[in-house]
Amino acid sequence: MAEQKSFSSSLGAIMAAVGSAVGLGNIWRFPYICGKYGGGAFILVYLCFVFLLGSVLMMSELVIGRRTQHTPIKAFHHLAPKHKAWGLVGLMGLVTSFFILSQYLVLSGWTTNYIWDSLTGTLASLGTDAGRISDHFSTFSTSGLRPIVFLVVFSLLGLVIILGGVQKGIENVSKVLMPVLVVLVLVLCVRSLTLPGAIEGVKYLFKPDFSLLTGEGILAALGQALFSLSVGMGVMIVYGSYIPTDDRLFKTAMWITASDTLIAILAGVAIFPAVFSCGFDPAGGPGLVYCVLPNVFNTMGGAGVVFSSIFFVLLMVAALTSAISLLEALTATIQAHTGMKRTWGAVVFFALTTLFGVLFSLSIGPLSHVKIAGNTLFDFVDKLNSIYLPPLSALGTIIFFGWFMKEDDIKDELSNHGTVSIGYYQLFRFLARYVAPIALVVVLVSGILG
Ligand code: TRP
Repeated sequence: MAEQKSFSSSLGAIMAAVGSAVGLGNIWRFPYICGKYGGGAFILVYLCFVFLLGSVLMMSELVIGRRTQHTPIKAFHHLAPKHKAWGLVGLMGLVTSFFILSQYLVLSGWTTNYIWDSLTGTLASLGTDAGRISDHFSTFSTSGLRPIVFLVVFSLLGLVIILGGVQKGIENVSKVLMPVLVVLVLVLCVRSLTLPGAIEGVKYLFKPDFSLLTGEGILAALGQALFSLSVGMGVMIVYGSYIPTDDRLFKTAMWITASDTLIAILAGVAIFPAVFSCGFDPAGGPGLVYCVLPNVFNTMGGAGVVFSSIFFVLLMVAALTSAISLLEALTATIQAHTGMKRTWGAVVFFALTTLFGVLFSLSIGPLSHVKIAGNTLFDFVDKLNSIYLPPLSALGTIIFFGWFMKEDDIKDELSNHGTVSIGYYQLFRFLARYVAPIALVVVLVSGILG
């Protein structure tokens, strides 16, 4: 039986897309960069970017996907049949997806290992000695084999879901895991907010301190807004092609944007009050979740094991639903271009991204002497994934959408063939044509110069 390549309902589509958007970026990255650039002030700027730019990019990808019912490269070919070069934008998005997934697998593997370490009491046995906790992290992450084992376990889990198909795999899993994720983050918020001195963390998160918000912080907010919404990689083009035709894309995009943002902020609420209560530095950087939080949990005595397990499960759930969207985009594309069976397409990209993931993982330990342009492989791919590729392919997409795609097609798709009103259209069009491209050029240039 031919499998159904669409989501069964608007709710299913929203859950799957929120699953893609909510990832390590929300729970691991957002809180630490928010900590670095002034808490509340950063959040205000972030909110502007996410709603004015992120959601515009999100909508444009969903429109392209649903209009054409194609995977990224073919979608651009379909819309611009005489200018095949636009297909390169789709290709670039897929290359970006490939590298993001490979790198994501490394971090997700760490998270899976930390669930294990929480459940087996290994983390708890480290006590509240910050030195021992960060040694544990560096010994583990550089150890070679162990991170790879957990990386492969995580990657296999993603493969199994993709093999289940669009509805039975992605949609059903997202419909279960997204509510679970919300419950987990809320449990952690309650725990964090009821600790002594928690209010300091709340103040820190919500009271704007504009003196900490540098130009660098504003750019970080913009980059994070795009990364967090998973835009600029064609993944939302693929998911857009699965969205039911009577769905209102504006509403869907707003739900995705709002949920993604809310969960990032809740992750901050789950983390900062606890960090303050235990007297740690909120600007702990990337080590915030692997080095500072275990210490926070260990100060909670026996219950710490429970909260630490909950936290790392939360992180893994978030990572898993993002990883599957990346694998899906790659799988659907190779399927569309080669006629290969879905199963084989998924296996091919599972194998390739896992292989690259293993290389990136090893480059943190045993292969750290291998350098590209002075960077380890992991740092190199991290730069590609944060500074170069996503803004570049997002820029290509939005220029195409704003300046080359037929306006009638866009309006027809947004209005469901004229059946729903699109009062927001003029503002949306202005943002898509002028504001978003300029913002992306600024991000790109400053990333390259900085
Ligand atoms: N949005 C994801 C996160 O916040 C990361 C991400 C970026 C992503 N681009 C993506 C996930 C594309 C899936 C697809 O962690």
